[in-house]
Amino acid sequence: MKINGETKLIGFFGSTFRTSKMYAMYNSAFEALGLNYAYIPFMVENIKKGVEAVRNLCIHAIGVTIPFKISIIPFLDELDKDAKRIGAVNVVINNNGKLIGGNTDGKGGVRALKEKTEVKNKRIILLGAGGAARAIAFAIKDEGGKLTILNRTLNEAKKLAEAVVCHFGGLKKLSKLLPTTDILINSTSVGMGPNINQSLVDKNLLHKELIVMDIVSNPKETKLLREAKESGCHVIFADRMLLWQGVLKFKLYTGIEPPVEVMEKALKETT
Ligand code: ATR
Repeated sequence: MKINGETKLIGFFGSTFRTSKMYAMYNSAFEALGLNYAYIPFMVENIKKGVEAVRNLCIHAIGVTIPFKISIIPFLDELDKDAKRIGAVNVVINNNGKLIGGNTDGKGGVRALKEKTEVKNKRIILLGAGGAARAIAFAIKDEGGKLTILNRTLNEAKKLAEAVVCHFGGLKKLSKLLPTTDILINSTSVGMGPNINQSLVDKNLLHKELIVMDIVSNPKETKLLREAKESGCHVIFADRMLLWQGVLKFKLYTGIEPPVEVMEKALKETT
C-alpha cells in the first residue's frame, strides 16, 4: 500500500475496532484492484466529535458498528432508504461534505441466504426482533420471502411485524410452524459466547429440508448450527453475512465492483 496525498481514508468506528476482521478484507481488496484507499481503525469515545472529525479531516467514509449504529444518526445529514427504515447505520459515505448513512446488514444477510437457496416464496422464520432482526426482516420482505417473526417478547415481535408487514408470534409457535418452514434464521444473541450451550430451538424440530442460518459469529458453530448439521439441515454460518455486508460496503466506498474472492480469502485468513 502506497500512502500519498490522494489516498482516500476509510475509518472504522465501533467498540470492536481492535479486533475487527475487516481491515484485511478491505485493504487486500484495495490492493488487488490498485485503488488508492486505506481502511483504518479509530478509537472513538464521543460519537458527535467522531463525526465532526470525519467532516474536518475530509475522511471519505466510515464503517460503523456497535455502540454507534443508532447514536450516530443525529449527526449525519441524510440516511438512505435502508438505514431510514431499519433505523440504524453501518456505513457512512462522505459525499463532498454531505454525510450519508447507509445499512448493508439486511442485504448482506439475504445474499448469504441466496448462496444456498431462493428466498422468494420461501416460508421463513426469523427468531428475534432487535436491531439485527429488523435489518434482515426488511431485506427478506424485499425478496418476496413469506416471513414470520418469533420473539421472546411478543410485543417487540408485533411492532417489527407491523413495520415490515408480516406474521409474528412468541417462541412457543416454533413447534407448530417449523415442520412446514423452509428457512430458519436466529437473529437473537442466544448461543453467543460465553453461553455457547444455548439454543432457542429443540433439536427434535429440526428436519433435513430446513436451511438454518445463525447470525451469531462467536462461536462460528453455535449449538443451533451444530444440531442442525446433525439433523441433516443445510447450515449457513454468520461469517457469510459478514462477508456480504462488507462486499456491499466496498461498492459504496469505491463505486467499483468488489473483488469478492479476494475479500473472502482475506476474511478466512483472519478467522
Ligand atoms: P441486536 O441489535 O444485536 O439485534 P438487541 O436489539 O438487543 O440486539 O436484540 C436482541 C434480541 O435477542 C431480541 O430479540 C431479544 O429478545 P427480547 O426482545 O425478548 O429481549 C433476543 N434475546 C436475547 N436474549 C434472549 C434469550 N435468552 N431468550 C430469547 N431471546 C433472547
